[in-house]
Amino acid sequence: MNLKELVTQNRSYRRFHEDVSIELETLRQLVDLARLSASGANKQPLKYILSCDPEKNALIFLQLGWAAYLKDWPGPSEGERPSGYIIILGDKNISNSFGVDPGIAAQSILLGATERGLGGCIIATIRKDDLREGLGISDQYEILFVLALGKPKEKVEIEAVGPDGGIKYWRDDEGVHHVPKRSLDEIIVG
Ligand SMILES: Cc1cc2nc3c(=O)[nH]c(=O)nc-3n(C[C@H](O)[C@H](O)[C@H](O)COP(=O)(O)O)c2cc1C
Repeated sequence: MNLKELVTQNRSYRRFHEDVSIELETLRQLVDLARLSASGANKQPLKYILSCDPEKNALIFLQLGWAAYLKDWPGPSEGERPSGYIIILGDKNISNSFGVDPGIAAQSILLGATERGLGGCIIATIRKDDLREGLGISDQYEILFVLALGKPKEKVEIEAVGPDGGIKYWRDDEGVHHVPKRSLDEIIVG
């Protein structure tokens, strides 16, 4: 896959083959891609928690919010949940602001996942206090994002934003997830 194909295939996936497990070593390799990525002032304040164990996964899953535009969908059902997670933390002993570092790290990790035939979703809707308590995360760390990972079980298609300008993703009757993207001409303004 060339870079455009990789970026195009790297959609937000929210339904997975939960029975396809992810090795801890794979999660470590994905974090290594984040480690090699750009960091403001090269402070490298991000730290990570890895999970590929069903019990820990279940604990993390409970604290996440899924696809806010899909009002009738509470999130992936049992059997379609992520097989692994990478929690991105900011180490407050290193910095008190983390800028765009977590976004860059998340994209590197998700591109690496896509390259391996996996997929995932950046989750910012997190019950952070409950997650902190459940996993015993020290106050030294700010919880920034949870990356849900697994073998995708859904088809995601990119659509052009229509004349009404709607950007909300939707699912059709076959369960295909559609994501509107603005055109190149709309976003290049000068
Ligand atoms: C910063 C950020 C936070 C996000 N938080 C959530 C979230 O809490 N829950 C969720 O289901 N998706 C979340 N997403 C995924 C977006 O909904 C998704 O990127 C968007 O619908 C476009 O789809 P695409 O990633 O396939 O292009 C988040 C994405 C980003 C970049």
